[in-house]
Amino acid sequence: MRERRTTIGLAAVAAMASLLLSCGNQKNLAVSSPSGNITVTLGTGADGALYYTVRQGDTQVVDSSRVALHCQGFTLGKTPQVKGVSRTSADETWETVWGEEREIRNNYNEMRVELEEPGDTARRYAMVFRVFDDGIGFRYEVPEQASLDSITILDEETEFALADDGVAWSIPWGRAYYEALYKPSLVSHLDTVCSPVTVKMTDSLYVAIHEANLTDYASMNLHPVKKGKGTTLKSYLTPWSTGEKVFAKAPMQSPWRTMIITKTPGELLLSRVMLNLNEPCAIETTDWIEPQRYIGIWWGMHRKDYTWASGEKHGATTENTKRYMDFAAANGFGGVLVEGWNIGWDGDWTAEGDKFSFTESYPDFDIDEITRYGKEKGVRLIGHNETGGAAQNYENQLDSAFALYERLGINSVKTGYVNNLLDKKELHGSQYGVRHYRKVIETAARHHIMIDNHEPVMPTGLQRTYPNLMTQEGVRGCEYDAWSPDGGNPPEHTVTIPFTRCLAGPVDYTPGIFNYDNPVPPYTKPNCTIAKQLALSVVLFSPLQMAADMIENYENRPEFAFITSCPTTWEKTVVPEARIGEYLTVARKDRNGDDWFIGAVTNANSRQSKVKLDFLDPDAKYVAKIYADGEGADFKANPYPVAISEVPVTNESVLPISLAAGGGAAVHIHKL
Ligand code: NOJ
Ligand code: CA
Repeated sequence: MRERRTTIGLAAVAAMASLLLSCGNQKNLAVSSPSGNITVTLGTGADGALYYTVRQGDTQVVDSSRVALHCQGFTLGKTPQVKGVSRTSADETWETVWGEEREIRNNYNEMRVELEEPGDTARRYAMVFRVFDDGIGFRYEVPEQASLDSITILDEETEFALADDGVAWSIPWGRAYYEALYKPSLVSHLDTVCSPVTVKMTDSLYVAIHEANLTDYASMNLHPVKKGKGTTLKSYLTPWSTGEKVFAKAPMQSPWRTMIITKTPGELLLSRVMLNLNEPCAIETTDWIEPQRYIGIWWGMHRKDYTWASGEKHGATTENTKRYMDFAAANGFGGVLVEGWNIGWDGDWTAEGDKFSFTESYPDFDIDEITRYGKEKGVRLIGHNETGGAAQNYENQLDSAFALYERLGINSVKTGYVNNLLDKKELHGSQYGVRHYRKVIETAARHHIMIDNHEPVMPTGLQRTYPNLMTQEGVRGCEYDAWSPDGGNPPEHTVTIPFTRCLAGPVDYTPGIFNYDNPVPPYTKPNCTIAKQLALSVVLFSPLQMAADMIENYENRPEFAFITSCPTTWEKTVVPEARIGEYLTVARKDRNGDDWFIGAVTNANSRQSKVKLDFLDPDAKYVAKIYADGEGADFKANPYPVAISEVPVTNESVLPISLAAGGGAAVHIHKL
């Protein structure tokens, strides 16, 4: 099914003013959002260079900030002349294949400024701004022209001169694949950080800086430069090993540089600016794309009950997989992920990724029999392609591997790139990495395969165009609760990532651990209560959502019913309460039914919450089944007690919920 789009009004206000304005004394060009609350201006400064600003109402959000591309041999944005301005607007609604809501409204005003950079050879380019009521996007475009063929970008000088030195939540750049804890710090104290960066500028002004539609370009990071009264964050593109940032050819478009701009932190989670700035769905038929819950032979390896490698403790055996498939079938899980099924795990696989075969199984894993058994049970095997960062070895096998999986009825694959470098040379977020990941997604789409990408480049909304890109890691996920020497993910982590990493897209965090008796030194365990584990399935959106524990740990646990009832794609989402790093309550309506699901989570502080259910249908009656922290629950001392209760509710009800330290609550509201 093609993406369904309803256009409410698409006006091309062609105001091709031929503004041959001289630098220095030209008036600013401005564009405001449809409601007029956000305004962007573009103009040249006293130095003749190009600058933009952003305002929300009367509040300055971004002071004069440079926009320039420094390329080999020339700079775009140094002393440009405006050659023309055109304006368009759009107000359309499009339907997601899956997501946090069915329908997304794309409503913006656009200003496109044609520019020319004088010099021995004049070069043409354009800055395009789209202004929404909850944020902005802008990008560089270089059209085809006689004097410009190849472009080597050495530095992109996109600045965000934030008008206030607010508190930023970010992770440092340079840590492998974004697996770090988001920490708060004044913007002025930041080092180079990855995008997205979320900043509380004042009590009523929040911004999140990121990018959209990262295509054949380098991913954007940010580093602070001291300028003016606030602190300027400047783009830092992930370089190639040779130092250049991007190799391109005209015509070229950069990814969109995006800012979500809201009054409250909860609204950040509801902004769809990034998705709206991606291209519509490119896949003709999407009915094979199936959001679902899955289990896997996975946590057992991280706990060292099993091994990926062959041998006595090999987890990926035919018998074990069938046991998992039986459990999946009995409990409504769509797929079983099996890691360690293929040749290549013996030895130092992170260093020798090119030994991986993506078609040959270990002898104790009979893939034909397993996929046959799965069909009988209505459960699919989820393939696993760990590459150890050997991207080229993977690309060489992509077509034959995906053709095999398609033939066997495997329609989702988890990929992985555990190595600080791809092909021992290039960074995951470099243009090299971006090209590789895109090739995997596109090849997978041709073979009707959904992708769950671990150790990715930071997501930028490509799932709109390729909805087979289901979910990605790019986060310090639950695996750290098995083995990280620093004691696992602290309680504030999961109340911070919804406002940071998760703004970039679905996250395969893999919640759902029920048994904390970890036999492995350093005996790391999750720093959260079981009720919070349940709540994370709602809070951390992923259309492929894992129940991560070993299946035996779900036996005789009544709270497991919440996981098996919880959908993975939604009709709509609301955020009743939110405070970055402290607490969050998210409510989502099932896309395929009338029920609502709530996840409430807190940091190390206990909390009394009152959730207004005013999002429910006014004329309906419901029963809320509440899975709350039970008597004595505490993430450190006793994570296990879960109190399950039922109460009748309507849209006038206010649900009192008591969250333990490091705790949470999950609620299934069933419509009668
Ligand atoms: C790291 C991934 O994040 C994890 O989920 C996986 O089990 C290992 N790599 C092995 O591929
Ligand atoms: Ca990982």
